[in-house]
Amino acid sequence: MKLTPGSIPFALLSASTALAAGTLEFSLESRQVSHFPDLAERNVQGTSESALISNYDGTLGMRYMINLTVGTPPQPQSVLIDTGSSDTIFLAAESFCNTRKSSSKCPGGTYNTSASSSFKMLSPSGINATYGGVTTSSASNAALVGDLVADVIQTDDLIIAGAHFGVAHQSSNNMLGNGDYIGIMGLAYPSAEAVKQGEPKYPTFVESLVDAGAIASRLFSLYLNAVSSYGSILFGGLDTEKYIGNLTTLNMMPRRASSTKIQFFMMQLDEVSMTHEDGTHEVLIKPSDQTQLVYPDSGTMTWVLPAEYYSKVVNMTGAKMQGSNAFLPCSQVSNETSFTFTLSGNGTNKAQLEVPTTLFFTPAVLADGSGVLKSEGEVMCILMVQQANSDTDFMLLGAPVMRAGYWIFDMDNGQISVAQARLSSTTSNVVAVGAGPHGVMNAAKQPSQLGANQTLAVDGNATASVSMSLTTATNAVGQTSGPQSTVLSGGAAGQMADVTLGASLVSVLMLSITFGAFLL
Ligand SMILES: *[C@@H]1O[C@H](CO)[C@@H](O)[C@H](O)[C@H]1NC(C)=O
Ligand SMILES: *[C@@H]1O[C@H](CO)[C@@H](O)[C@H](O)[C@H]1NC(C)=O
Ligand SMILES: *[C@@H]1O[C@H](CO)[C@@H](O)[C@H](O)[C@H]1NC(C)=O
Ligand SMILES: *[C@@H]1O[C@H](CO)[C@@H](O)[C@H](O)[C@H]1NC(C)=O
Ligand SMILES: *[C@@H]1O[C@H](CO)[C@@H](O)[C@H](O)[C@H]1NC(C)=O
Ligand SMILES: *[C@@H]1O[C@H](CO)[C@@H](O)[C@H](O)[C@H]1NC(C)=O
Ligand SMILES: *[C@@H]1O[C@H](CO)[C@@H](O)[C@H](O)[C@H]1NC(C)=O
Ligand SMILES: *[C@@H]1O[C@H](CO)[C@@H](O)[C@H](O)[C@H]1NC(C)=O
Ligand SMILES: *[C@@H]1O[C@H](CO)[C@@H](O)[C@H](O)[C@H]1NC(C)=O
Repeated sequence: MKLTPGSIPFALLSASTALAAGTLEFSLESRQVSHFPDLAERNVQGTSESALISNYDGTLGMRYMINLTVGTPPQPQSVLIDTGSSDTIFLAAESFCNTRKSSSKCPGGTYNTSASSSFKMLSPSGINATYGGVTTSSASNAALVGDLVADVIQTDDLIIAGAHFGVAHQSSNNMLGNGDYIGIMGLAYPSAEAVKQGEPKYPTFVESLVDAGAIASRLFSLYLNAVSSYGSILFGGLDTEKYIGNLTTLNMMPRRASSTKIQFFMMQLDEVSMTHEDGTHEVLIKPSDQTQLVYPDSGTMTWVLPAEYYSKVVNMTGAKMQGSNAFLPCSQVSNETSFTFTLSGNGTNKAQLEVPTTLFFTPAVLADGSGVLKSEGEVMCILMVQQANSDTDFMLLGAPVMRAGYWIFDMDNGQISVAQARLSSTTSNVVAVGAGPHGVMNAAKQPSQLGANQTLAVDGNATASVSMSLTTATNAVGQTSGPQSTVLSGGAAGQMADVTLGASLVSVLMLSITFGAFLL
C-alpha cells in the first residue's frame, strides 16, 4: 500500500520528497503558511499551553524544549521536555557556564538562586539524577546533581509560587553530548524522582500545576509535530485539531508482572509491521510468549529496541552499519514505506500508529554543528534506531515514533490516550479535561465505551514541603506556534563539510544523539 494523501498529512510528503532529493533543509524548512493563530488568543481556562521548540540555537539537534521562567524577578530558561524522568532541574549559575571555567555553553540559560527573592532551599544536595544507560552506545550516562529547592515558576501565563525542583551544581557528561549543558523538565510519576536515599518524593512540575489549582488533574498532551514546526505541550487539556480519527485509551502496564501499581508510562507492544513499496506488509516484531513493554520517551531521540529485533529493523530500512550506528544516503531513504506500531495496555483496546520510514532518518550532522556527513559526495542520513543493552527489557519509543502520534498522559487514571497526529495542523480546539475517569473521552466527545478503566492503583501525589499558589501574568512565556525559523546545527546546510564516513567521525557525530534522558 502506498501512503495515500488521505492517510498521511501533506507536510510529511513534502518532507520526504525534499529528503529524497538530499537537501538538508528538509527538516529545517519553514513552509510558508498564511496565518497561524496565536496561542495566547486561545487560552482555555484550566489548561496551560507552551510551544515545544525542536531545535534551539542551532546546536542541540532534535531535542524538544519548553521555555519558562524561574525566580523573582523572572530568569528565562529553556529546558528539555522528558517523559522518561520526573525531576525538573535547572543549572545553577554559579556552577555552570561561568566564564572563568570551561568553554561550555548553556544555551537554555542558568538560574541564579541569589538573584531570586522568592528562592527557598528545601534539601541541600537532595537531588542526584542519572540519565541514559539503556543503549549499547559506548557513551556513558549523563547526571545532574544538586539541591532540592522551591521558587516561582512561570509557564504560559501561569505563575506557580512554591514549585519544587532541583538546581544542579554538578554534572557528569550532559544531555546534549557536545560539551554544552541544559536543564530538564521531567514529566513522569514521582516514583522516578532522583531524591536522596530515604528522603520523601516531592511534587513534580505537573503535580505543582495541580496543587496550585491551575489544572484539574495530573494530565498533559504532547504534540511534537513535524520537525520544521513548533510542537506543543498542553497541561490539563487536549486539542482535538491535532490528531486524526479517534483517540484510543490504553491502561498503563505495571513495570513488572509481579507489581500491582502503575509507576511508569509503560505500554505493551503487540506488533510492528512494515509496509513495503509494493504495498505488501511484513511483520517485523511480534512478541509472542512474553510481554513486550514500551515506553514513549520524549527525551530520547531514537527508537531503542532489544538486539533480537534491532538488526531486522536496520535491514528493512536498507541502512548499513558503521560502528554501532546505521547510515543510508539520504537520497536512498524510501518515501513509500512505513512502519505500523500496534500498541495496547492492560485491557482490550489497541492503538495503531503509522510511522513513515522517513521519520526514522535524519541527515548526519556533526556534533559541533560544523557540517554534515557525506560519503562519495552524497549526504548521509543516520537511522534514529538504537540497540538496547542486554539488561534493558523494554523499548523506548523516542522522538521519531512519538512525532507520529498525539499523546495524552492521564497520570491520575494511569492511562495513555493516543491517536495519529495531524502534523502541521494550523487550527486549534483546546478543551480542558475534567478530573475523574473518562475525562479524556468526555473532552474529546468520544463515547466513554471507547475508553478504558484502569484497575491497578497509580503512583500517588507527592506531598509539598511549602504550599503552592497560582497567579496569572499578562506577559505569557513560551507561547508560539507555526513554522519554526531556527536552523538546525548552525546553518550546516550552507557549509557542508565533505567528510568521509569513518569510525572516529561516527563517534563525534553520535554524541549528539546517544544520550536518552531516561531515568529508571
Ligand atoms: C517519493 O519520491 C519520489 C522521487 O522524489 C517521488 O516521485 C514520489 O512522488 C514520492 N512519493 C511519495 C509518496 O511522496
Ligand atoms: C547571582 O546574583 C547575585 C545577586 O544579584 C550576583 O551578585 C552574582 O554575581 C550572580 N552570580 C552569577 C554567577 O551570575
Ligand atoms: C550520584 O549517584 C551516582 C550513582 O548512583 C553515584 O555514583 C554518585 O556518587 C552520586 N553523587 C553524589 C554527589 O552523591
Ligand atoms: C470514532 O468512534 C465513533 C464512535 O464509536 C465511530 O462512530 C467513528 O466511526 C470512529 N471514527 C473513526 C475515524 O474511527
Ligand atoms: C537483509 O537481510 C537479507 C537476508 O538476511 C539479505 O539478503 C539482505 O541483503 C539484507 N538487506 C540489507 C539492506 O542489508
Ligand atoms: C491489569 O493487570 C492485572 C495483573 O497485572 C490484572 O489483575 C488486571 O485485571 C488487569 N486489569 C485490566 C483492566 O486488564
Ligand atoms: C468503566 O467503568 C464505568 C463505571 O464503573 C463504566 O460505566 C464504564 O462502562 C467502564 N468503561 C469501560 C470502557 O469499560
Ligand atoms: C492526586 O491528587 C488529586 C487532587 O487532589 C486527586 O484527585 C487524585 O485522586 C490523587 N491521585 C492519587 C493517585 O492519589
Ligand atoms: C525561547 O527562548 C529563547 C531565548 O530566550 C527565545 O530566543 C525563543 O524565541 C523562545 N521561543 C519561544 C517559542 O518562546
